[in-house]
Formats: sequence, C-alpha cells, structure tokens
Amino acid sequence: NQGNLAYSVGVTLDRFIKLKQSDFPFASGELSQILRDIALASKIVNRETNRAGLSNIGGAFGQTNVQGEEQQKLDVIANIRFMRALSKGGEVCAIVSEEEDCVIDLQNNSGKYVVAIDPLDGSSNIDVNISIGTIFSIYRRKTPVGSPITTEDVMQPGNQQVAAGYVLYGSSTMLVYTTGFGVNGFTYEASLGEFFLSHPSIKAPETGKIYSINEGLELEWEAGVKSFVKDCKEKKYQSRYIGSLVADFHRNLLKGGIYLYPATFNNPSGKLRLLYEANALAFIIEQAGGKASDGENRILDIQPESLHQRTPLLIGSKHMVEEAEELFRISE
Ligand code: AHG
Ligand code: MN
Ligand code: MN
Ligand code: MN
Repeated sequence: NQGNLAYSVGVTLDRFIKLKQSDFPFASGELSQILRDIALASKIVNRETNRAGLSNIGGAFGQTNVQGEEQQKLDVIANIRFMRALSKGGEVCAIVSEEEDCVIDLQNNSGKYVVAIDPLDGSSNIDVNISIGTIFSIYRRKTPVGSPITTEDVMQPGNQQVAAGYVLYGSSTMLVYTTGFGVNGFTYEASLGEFFLSHPSIKAPETGKIYSINEGLELEWEAGVKSFVKDCKEKKYQSRYIGSLVADFHRNLLKGGIYLYPATFNNPSGKLRLLYEANALAFIIEQAGGKASDGENRILDIQPESLHQRTPLLIGSKHMVEEAEELFRISE
C-alpha cells in the first residue's frame, strides 16, 4: 500500500548524511565516514545480537572489565566490531571504550576524530532477550593532526562533542543521532540492510508521566531523590525501568519522562559513566529540547578527570529534570 511504498523509498541513512553534510563548517565528509562506519558495525552487532541464543555467543566471556563487571561475550564481540570498523575507516585517531582499560591509540595520527563508546549497553539483559544498545560520542582531536594523541584529546567535556548517538537493538533496531542540528531516528530494514529515516527531528515532550529509577536502591537514596520519587507516586506517574539505559532513555525521549541514576551512599558518583554513556545522551536530549544534569551541574559542562569516571544522571523532559533538581536543592 502507499504507506509501505513511501517507507520503502524513504531516505536512507547514507542519503540523509549526504544531504546534511553541508551543515558542518568543515564539510569534508570525514564525520560522515565515521557515522557510516558506526552504522556498518551496528548492522553486524544487530545480526549477532539477534542470533545470540543460536550461536552460543550468549553468556559470560569469563573475564572482568575495568568496571569490575563480568564481561558478556557480546560485550567483547561488540567492542571488537566497533573498534575494527572505526580503525578501518581511517578518520579516528583514538577510542575510549567501556570495555578497554585505557585509551586505544589507533596509531593513526592523521585521524582528526576521537570516539568514546559503550559497545553494548544493558549487558545484563542480553541473555533474557530484552533490548540492549550501543552509545557513542564523537569529538575532534584537540592536538595538531600528525602529532601523537594526548589526554587533552580524550578528556574533553561533553560540550565539545561534534556528534553523538545510540543504536537500540529492540523490537526494531534503530539508530538515533545528532550532529548539533537536531535529532533524527532511523529504523533498520534488515531485508535491505539499510537504515531508513523514520523519526525526523525528534523533540522531547517538555514534561511527561514516566519516571525510570532502580527502586531496589531506595534505602541508599539521598533525601532529594526520595522526595522526587514520592512526588511522582503522588502524581500517579508510571514507573518504567528495564535496566537498559538506551531503551529507558529512548522511551522517555519519545513519550516524555525522566531517567534517574542518582548518587547513593555506597556510590556517591552513581553508576553510569560520563565519557560513553551520560555525555552522548545529554547531547541528544538537549538537541531534542530536554535536559541532563548530575543533580546540579549540566552534564555537558563536566570536565572529565578520568576515562571511566561515573556521574549521577538525571535526564529527560526539561520540566521533570528541573523539578527533580529543585527538590534535590531544597532537600540538601
Ligand atoms: P552496561 O551494560 O553498558 O554496563 O550499562 C548498564 C547500565 C545501564 O544500561 C542500565 O540502565 C544500568 O546499568 C542498570 O543498572 P542497575 O542494574 O544498577 O539498575
Ligand atoms: Mn558494562
Ligand atoms: Mn552502558
Ligand atoms: Mn556496556
């Protein structure tokens, strides 16, 4: 029918990137190449994710990562796939990955870009067939092209991102990204091997009725978190939390809502990582009109001190984040 016809001749990711290439001051196609490399790796990871149960790549890999987490086989596979795609593309000089203890120097000093990546987000959900994702941030290197990379290249605040996005391996597989000119979502059509523009110019509802938080940690919450969640319950908001940040974020982005992973007594910096989880989603949510903070500071303004540093994260509809920040402030 007409609907399908329009869909099937829709704008592919490749065509969209070309169309939008003129948006960049340095419209040289390098950034486009990185986005294509990421899209390619995500198609491969998508296929492996979909077949995990059949090809014995589910379950634990048998090693612990720098986070102290037991790596899943798909964590390791996704990490290799994205690193390989990014190094083959030739535009990237350094990669920060959740699954790598230190910066991966691609020995490609002519590369102008640095990528921070969470190759597989929501690993605890892999074996139970719940949506998982990939999260990425792209920066321009700070030091001169041709010189060796330094920490200055990789420890950039989120406000320096030139692009950010995520892949959601869910009931359908989507790629959502921004280059600072709005947020666009693409849905993967596996039979054609293409991402098609399905969610142009995504805008975050200014408020919503969904809150996402791990209630299992309630006894460790500070007063402000307790009063915000109590407020949500009094307003009869819906609690939705599936333990995959990308999936929880995406639902709240489209429907309106707030995701909180706050500081707790045991983890005063919360759990989520600044460089390859919070920063990318913060760039996206702000481009969609929403907000992201650590409870008092704008996520994108936080100057990183270490690669895998954690940050409390409140992210989603602008008014909901502001309400939470206000309650945090008066409950101190
Ligand atoms: P990752 O799988 O990349 O380590 O990230 C897991 C994160 C995030 O995806 C999710 O929202 C959160 O951890 C869940 O944490 P809890 O299980 O502590 O709620
Ligand atoms: Mn992990
Ligand atoms: Mn993650
Ligand atoms: Mn991960």
